[in-house]
Amino acid sequence: MKTIGVLTSGGDAPGMNAAIRSVVRTAIAKGMKVKGIRRGYSGLIDGEIIDLDARSVSDIIHRGGTMLYTARCLEFKTDQGIKKGVEMCKKHGIEGIVVIGGDGSFRGARDLSLNGIPCVGIPGTIDNDISCSEYTLGFDTAMNTVIEMVDRLRDTSQSHERCTVVEVMGRKAGYLALETGIAVGATSILVPEVEFDLQKDVIDKINAIKKTGKKHFIVIVAEGVGGTEAIAKEIQSGTGIDTRATILGHVQRGGNASARDRIMASMMGYKAVSLLDEGIGNRVVVFRDDEIIDKDIYEALSMPKVFDLDKFEKATTLAL
Ligand code: ADP
Ligand code: F6P
Repeated sequence: MKTIGVLTSGGDAPGMNAAIRSVVRTAIAKGMKVKGIRRGYSGLIDGEIIDLDARSVSDIIHRGGTMLYTARCLEFKTDQGIKKGVEMCKKHGIEGIVVIGGDGSFRGARDLSLNGIPCVGIPGTIDNDISCSEYTLGFDTAMNTVIEMVDRLRDTSQSHERCTVVEVMGRKAGYLALETGIAVGATSILVPEVEFDLQKDVIDKINAIKKTGKKHFIVIVAEGVGGTEAIAKEIQSGTGIDTRATILGHVQRGGNASARDRIMASMMGYKAVSLLDEGIGNRVVVFRDDEIIDKDIYEALSMPKVFDLDKFEKATTLAL
């Protein structure tokens, strides 16, 4: 391939910029030209395409967000949208694309590959909900942000002897909630993957722990569970403890990328371009068993993601 494109799609995630930098610099080192496609698939359809050189990606390795902007594009889910995307690639001489995003974005990459534009996906989402990969760019940074915020909430919760209910992102998945819940020492972690009884699993538990002298509590709720404010009200009336709900929201998506995200992004970008350089498309770069490898997109999209119930049980045991 002489020219490849790179785009970011779906929700932004820290580490996407480091991945763009890696894609651009690896491609240049391998003698290829790189085009940046702005605003995901919607920019591809509209021809929002710019030339990128080594200097275009200076000063972004640390930054959250994505210098290429991102978008959700409904038209790309239609045959017409894909056709327009392929035509735009031909017009700009783009022979392959690195797609940085979540599994929705990989479906677009699969459709483009099927229509003659080989694509390689790089998993990027703070949710870590992509079945084929044990890690997605942005997850580590988001975890650290959540931990920092909850540590702050703990100070005020402890001072007022309150219960603090914190809602964390993750769309329909509870991975961010589970990992951050462990790291902040939450009394209860509520995730969509595990059924719970608010009275038995949370209120009775808090009442029992209260008797041992504990005076403030942290409950983590994954956004996929929903009803965080109502949960806080029920906890207050069931325990008599003054309770506040905090919905962390989009603050979890921003901020400088952590060391893990910068390194993972740099290595994944290198791998993605190396595949395209060999003429290999329709692949996703994934992290499995401590290795960065690649998988077929169809296979990757059909893998079930397993929630770590054992870890969840252990976290529950620790909250006494
Ligand atoms: P993520 O990539 O984070 O999972 P989305 O699910 O919002 O985020 O998907 C991002 C974009 O990928 C969508 O807006 C759309 O342009 C494209 N996409 C999603 N699903 C498909 C699909 N089934 N076929 C083609 N493109 C898709
Ligand atoms: O997929 C990343 C994510 O931040 C989810 O955790 C959340 O549900 C969603 O995106 C929020 O999307 P939006 O930016 O459209 O509000």
